[in-house]
Amino acid sequence: MTDSQKISRRAQAVAPFLAMDVMAAAAAKARAGDSVIRMEVGQPSAPAPRAVIAAAQAALADGRVPYTEALGMPALRARIARHYAETYGVAVPPERVVVTTGSSAGFVLAFLALFDAGARVAVPQPGYPAYRSILHALDLVPVPLVLRRADRFAPTSALIREAGDLDGVLVMSPANPSGTVIAPDRLADLCATTKALGLPFVSDEIYHGLSYGVPTATALQFDADAVVINSFSKFYCMTGWRVGWMVVPEALVRPIERLAQNLYISAPYLSQVAALAAFDTLDAMGAIRDGYAENRNILLDALPGLGLGETHPADGAFYLYADVGRFTDDATAFCRRMLDEAGVAATPGLDFDPAEGHHHVRFSFAGSKGDCVEAVRRLRAWLG
Ligand SMILES: Cc1ncc(COP(=O)(O)O)c(C=O)c1O
Repeated sequence: MTDSQKISRRAQAVAPFLAMDVMAAAAAKARAGDSVIRMEVGQPSAPAPRAVIAAAQAALADGRVPYTEALGMPALRARIARHYAETYGVAVPPERVVVTTGSSAGFVLAFLALFDAGARVAVPQPGYPAYRSILHALDLVPVPLVLRRADRFAPTSALIREAGDLDGVLVMSPANPSGTVIAPDRLADLCATTKALGLPFVSDEIYHGLSYGVPTATALQFDADAVVINSFSKFYCMTGWRVGWMVVPEALVRPIERLAQNLYISAPYLSQVAALAAFDTLDAMGAIRDGYAENRNILLDALPGLGLGETHPADGAFYLYADVGRFTDDATAFCRRMLDEAGVAATPGLDFDPAEGHHHVRFSFAGSKGDCVEAVRRLRAWLG
């Protein structure tokens, strides 16, 4: 590239994803023969359910791997609609279900369909960094909803009202990085506030199914017009399959279909065939969730005693967001040293929160129980 190379403002506004940098450093260390406990990755270590893999193998053996309809295979859209009736008691017509290339593509399609350039969209902070980046890349303006530890990092209606002029609101539950689950009555309240302000409500429900002793509600229970985004990545351990879905209001279906046709034609066929088998694996996936629950207990028992307190009871997803302020005001350097000296990889908070992230670290407990036990042992020796 030469100095005169033109780079768009949009591309320059997109921040690097520090978690990916830590992943690369951890992988390099492991390749060099060092032992690394990988707690930086936001993905399950377990494989996809057996029935999912078998379905994909059968489809592959058949040989033809075609495009599908831009909105997804009708059978999968119908199966997803049935999931809403069975799990939440909400009637969703299959026509309002859109299959996407992971939830990541869902955000792009939803933002493009809902907002014009310059629109201001409220997103949680701390929060999943790609919200900000995707909004920047589309010339939209992320407006942080600054979440407070005192509120368990849950968004409130007051924060939405205080955010100034908005064109839309996005929330997630269970949340990344805090693990916070928004209680059903609070979610109802957020939906009502957003509706009263006349704004579209986008609900990222990608960690649904992964909660520990608390109920998770879908925004569709309170607002039939909510745009709900979900994915097979986390609960079904299918990150690399790149398949997710949205439920959208009827008026958005055709605009999203036109966008999807032109942007990527369709989500991958093999992954859609495989995903069709996923909903029938609830028992196996429930056992994996129980494993995360055990890991979570191990960390919640140990970390506060090591000075990594204020993890607050993360009641969903597979993350603990620890305040490391007692040790450092530079969580990025802290994570680098923790990787080099203790062999534990975790993600610095700046990814999730440009304001307060410098004294936070996210630990993922989506790995094995043995990894969590060993991480605690190493951290005790390192911090002790
Ligand atoms: C809150 C949240 N939403 C969305 C995603 C993107 O997931 P995918 O594109 O694999 O569905 C992630 C991934 O870590 C996430 O943490």
